[in-house]
Amino acid sequence: MGGERKGINRLEWSAIATIIGVLLLFSMAIGVTLIAPRYIDPSWNQASSTYQVQMHEVSDPNVYVSTSNPGGWGLQYVNHLKQGNSLLSFRESEGVRIRAQEELNSYITRENDQEVTLTSRLLLLRPANDQTEWQKELQEEWKQNHPNWESEGLSLPFYTLLELYDPEKTEAFAVTESDGVLEPWVRSHFTLLGDSPPFDISQGTIYIQNPREYRISEILYQGAKNWIYDENGEPIPDLQELKEGKLRFLSRESLIKMGEDVYRVEGCWYCHTDQTRTLVQDTVLNGSAEYPAPPSSANEYIYQQVTFPGTRRIGPDLSRVGIKRSHRDWHMSHFWSPKTESRGSIMPSFGHFFDDDPTGTSPNPYGIPNFKFEAIYQYLMTKGTRITPPDQAWWLGLDPIQTIDIIEGRKGDD
Ligand code: HEC
Repeated sequence: MGGERKGINRLEWSAIATIIGVLLLFSMAIGVTLIAPRYIDPSWNQASSTYQVQMHEVSDPNVYVSTSNPGGWGLQYVNHLKQGNSLLSFRESEGVRIRAQEELNSYITRENDQEVTLTSRLLLLRPANDQTEWQKELQEEWKQNHPNWESEGLSLPFYTLLELYDPEKTEAFAVTESDGVLEPWVRSHFTLLGDSPPFDISQGTIYIQNPREYRISEILYQGAKNWIYDENGEPIPDLQELKEGKLRFLSRESLIKMGEDVYRVEGCWYCHTDQTRTLVQDTVLNGSAEYPAPPSSANEYIYQQVTFPGTRRIGPDLSRVGIKRSHRDWHMSHFWSPKTESRGSIMPSFGHFFDDDPTGTSPNPYGIPNFKFEAIYQYLMTKGTRITPPDQAWWLGLDPIQTIDIIEGRKGDD
């Protein structure tokens, strides 16, 4: 009898000890995951720069991409411009001249201006009327500045002549000339005309240079109705029209999200890492000996739903691939057939990123990239390009992150 009682007591004690143990572990887990990080590095969940925020909040949702359609007229990048929201600049350069009516003249940044003129007023550019006279005038002027041009073997320049006008709209779509990886960015030396936009421009801003309206025309291609970009065609009435129906544009924001998903589903993380460690071999491989790439920091990933630091490097690390390899053409041919770009590559070919349907459902293996390709490309291009603004970036040798100090363990000593 006595022995039995002792047994029960022992059992009760061990049950109590287990419960206490579980509670202790549970509260420690809460402490480690929720409370401790706040005291370790308060910047880990904040954006690393204003540029990162503005790319995510201002640029990405307003850039729209359409993948090549059956006509094969190539990729289109379009900016969604909104009165009082988008910042625009109209800028002359060596080969581009702009004219406007008296009232709009102050919106033009001339070639030798020290400051970029920006505005949140919705204005657009179009080819100037009766260009012949103006073209001749400019060429004469150029000849006077280059009297020996013929003997020096120079050829007569041909100018792009544009006119600034007020489309009297509150929104419009504009063709973007860049391939959209790095946006024009100013922190100093700019004048803002008109009202300030609703986002913070105090530390710098993304602006759209020389916007021209995106217009399309319908055409027949192999018996089917299709469309092409055409300067003299019809403007796009609204966002819905751009996103739905025949045009099928997707915002860069949604492509980046899709790209994250493609990366996950295709198992890219099995062969690639997404982290530059604080080791010389990583920073030099992802940058160069002169301009080592900054090691990855937690806040680079704040806009990602899933992160893929990875464990094995069967292929190279991808955390700075947006700088190392920014050309869309390179990625196109690499995903289509990795061996053509890298001799002996063991990376599998991703033929299903290419077919003759933008949504990627057609079984025809045509070499036209579909949205899976655009998504993974846009996702890869965020890697390394958003840590710091392009005008103070490490690949220009400016290194605001002090990479050398980090890899040599000096950062944080002061
Ligand atoms: C079986 C392993 C494997 C898988 C899976 C894989 N890769 Fe690769 N990847 C490699 C190897 C090996 C290389 C180096 C040779 C080359 O350039 O093809 C490479 C190279 C690359 C490069 C060029 C990087 C540079 O700095 O030169 C990119 C970009 C890339 N892969 C992206 C991807 C993406 C995105 C996926 C998923 C859709 C993926 N890879 C899936 C093995 C893989």
